[in-house]
Amino acid sequence: MIHRLISSTIRLCILVIGIILLGLPALAQAPAPAQTPPMGWNSWNHFACQVTEADVRAAADALAATGMQQAGYIYVNIDDCWQGQRDAGGAIHPNSKFPDMKRLSDYVHARGLKLGIYSSPGPKTCAGFEGSLGREELDAQTYAAWGIDYLKYDYCSFQGDIPAQIAAYRKMHEALARTGRPIVFSLCQYGMDRVWAWGPAVGGNLWRTTGDISDNYDRMAYLGFGQNGLERFAAPGHWNDPDMLEVGNGKMNGDEYRTHMSLWCLLAAPLLAGNDLSKMSAETLAILTNPEVVAVDQDRLGVQGQRVAQEGQLEVWVKPLADGCKAVGLFNRGESPMPVTAYFRDVGVGDAAAVRDLWQKRDLGVFHSSFTAQVPSHGVVMVKVKP
Ligand code: GLA
Repeated sequence: MIHRLISSTIRLCILVIGIILLGLPALAQAPAPAQTPPMGWNSWNHFACQVTEADVRAAADALAATGMQQAGYIYVNIDDCWQGQRDAGGAIHPNSKFPDMKRLSDYVHARGLKLGIYSSPGPKTCAGFEGSLGREELDAQTYAAWGIDYLKYDYCSFQGDIPAQIAAYRKMHEALARTGRPIVFSLCQYGMDRVWAWGPAVGGNLWRTTGDISDNYDRMAYLGFGQNGLERFAAPGHWNDPDMLEVGNGKMNGDEYRTHMSLWCLLAAPLLAGNDLSKMSAETLAILTNPEVVAVDQDRLGVQGQRVAQEGQLEVWVKPLADGCKAVGLFNRGESPMPVTAYFRDVGVGDAAAVRDLWQKRDLGVFHSSFTAQVPSHGVVMVKVKP
């Protein structure tokens, strides 16, 4: 009897070791996440604290039904306000608006999408819900068991100097890594203390470089155009994050939303739609999914664009692409339509270059030494320049 028990225990051990060994190469080969800027949807900008499981399901359905998923939007991210209480063992449970996280993640995964969640290194989240302070290991295990693929970790009530912040973010990164599940790690502490300089070292795949965006041209422009100079901190796996998209939330016009989208793509910024996807206009969908504009964001070279020329309210931004072309944004931040010129010496191409309008999806011909376009107020003309 004892003999049989020992031999079946040994067999079980061999099986478990075998599974672990077989699994190791798979883990080692799993591609690091966020090789291009993450794309998806996040609940905050539209639903804020009202978000429910039904809203998240509807967002997943809409990503699949509208073609956004095919355009690259694959993360369905729940922001703040999903948290309930901890049980006697310390495990976090969702509140009544999210009755069953595993069921929700199965629903999202069944559509070929990925599920994201939100917490804080502090005791409380920004909306006053339960944070992860002191519970990092357990929370990471819980998220992995639910099938979570992305964590936004928001500073909120955390208190501490830079070394303390670094330690707090690293602690959650290490807890996530120990789950063995690839989970995109999104740092959110509003760009304080040069987070871009230490974000990669604490396992951040992206880090907010700014305070919160709002659905307002001036705020969006202040954040987006303010990114110049941060380009050397972005690279595949590690992105500057000037906050989520407001496209389609209704307080900017089409030109302003095209400026928002063009700028974020030139910046190689994460593209997290923040509108109600289940009630989207054709124009909103076209802005979010223009394949030639999205391709600039997702270009595998992974270089963040920068401003190469500025004259008053007119700005020219350039992002080098893997195929040797340059994506160029001609922006007019002024209050009336203006011609904007991109000089090829600023763009970094020779004297003659072919120009294609990315919003119009139209070749404009070969130009010599410069390209000029009439740009609407608060608008953009975005082109690809082929040397
Ligand atoms: C902060 C973040 C926002 C959002 C809210 C949620 O303000 O910057 O993006 O996550 O918290 O409370």
